[in-house]
Amino acid sequence: MSRVRIVEMGLRDGLQNESTHLSVVQRLELLKKLIDAGSANFEVGAFVSAKWVPQMAVSKDLTKLALNDIAKRKSANKLHPSVLIPNEEGMLQAIEAGIKEVAIFAACSETFSQINTNCSIDESFERFKLVMVLAKKHKIKVRGYLSTCFVCPFENMIDPKKVVAIARRMHALGVYEISIGDTIGAAHVGQVKYLFTQLLKHIPAKQLAGHFHDTRGQALANILAAYEMGIKTFDSSIGGLGGCPYAPGATGNVATEDVVYMFEGMKVNTGLNLEKLIQTNHWLQPFMDHALSSKVAKVGLLKPIKATSKKYAKSRFMLNKKY
Ligand code: HMG
Ligand code: MG
Repeated sequence: MSRVRIVEMGLRDGLQNESTHLSVVQRLELLKKLIDAGSANFEVGAFVSAKWVPQMAVSKDLTKLALNDIAKRKSANKLHPSVLIPNEEGMLQAIEAGIKEVAIFAACSETFSQINTNCSIDESFERFKLVMVLAKKHKIKVRGYLSTCFVCPFENMIDPKKVVAIARRMHALGVYEISIGDTIGAAHVGQVKYLFTQLLKHIPAKQLAGHFHDTRGQALANILAAYEMGIKTFDSSIGGLGGCPYAPGATGNVATEDVVYMFEGMKVNTGLNLEKLIQTNHWLQPFMDHALSSKVAKVGLLKPIKATSKKYAKSRFMLNKKY
């Protein structure tokens, strides 16, 4: 059976832009539910400046508790927690917390780089060199994100040649995978096919991932387009939570539930249990101050229902919803 790897963003990209602040205990509970639903690759939080992203201020405490919980599980060696870091200071915190994987992030637009991380693209790579030295020394795996790979909220369309050059630069640093970000959810299938065609000339498919925000409802189509080109890793967020606080106009990541529904329907194994993900969504919903965007979780699992009236007599299957 074919399979894809889903990297869960809920606790990091998901919560970083929410106005509701979940406590450390609530975040840990969410993480446990995600793990119980089969999530094996997930970001716990971000070691970034609390002045810049107050939502991530509890990441250190949460990471310690999460690693403690994970260590007690039989499946511990199959679970891959990670944290987002922008610089050496973040990396030193990651080492102190004892986490074995981190993710660095750079932008493909100068303006976004300045607004998100207060430095140019070149300067961000200078920071990453220091991070990589520490990573090697402490045997920490490093994943890379590239933001604004298609469209930037400030510079509009981004030249794919520029994205390929920055991706190659990140690849040369020694990250194990590069996640290609549609930060404001504006890319369409044509752009996705073109950019991945160019990227695949230089970077193997197994080292590329897709990170699609769903602002314009294109994320699933974009994921499918990338999958058909050989990409097997995708980032998503429970409930479709998410967005970057420095990317105006961006809504959440594509919802994990919706991605799982699509792939499992195609007989592509995600390793995730859709029913448990939906339960997690329903558990999370009351804490949030807006409706979670996952369409699949909204209607629930597909179940046959009894046709009780002439109107429905011919329907064999209907969504589990009151009509
Ligand atoms: P800066 O103000 O230029 O940093 O921020 P600085 O080096 O001048 O230091 C200023 C203060 O920040 C100091 O503290 C440092 O100690 C502290 P003070 O002396 O004022 O008390 N500091 C830190 N604190 C905690 N953790 C650190 C850290 N580094 C410095 N790692 C900085 C530069 C990069 C820190 C800041 O701009 C920042 O934190 N930016 C993060 C922005 C962010 O997290 N954005 C969202 C994530 S990216 C995203 O969502 C996109 C993605 O999902 C992909 C996609 O969708 O495209 C990944
Ligand atoms: Mg993102």
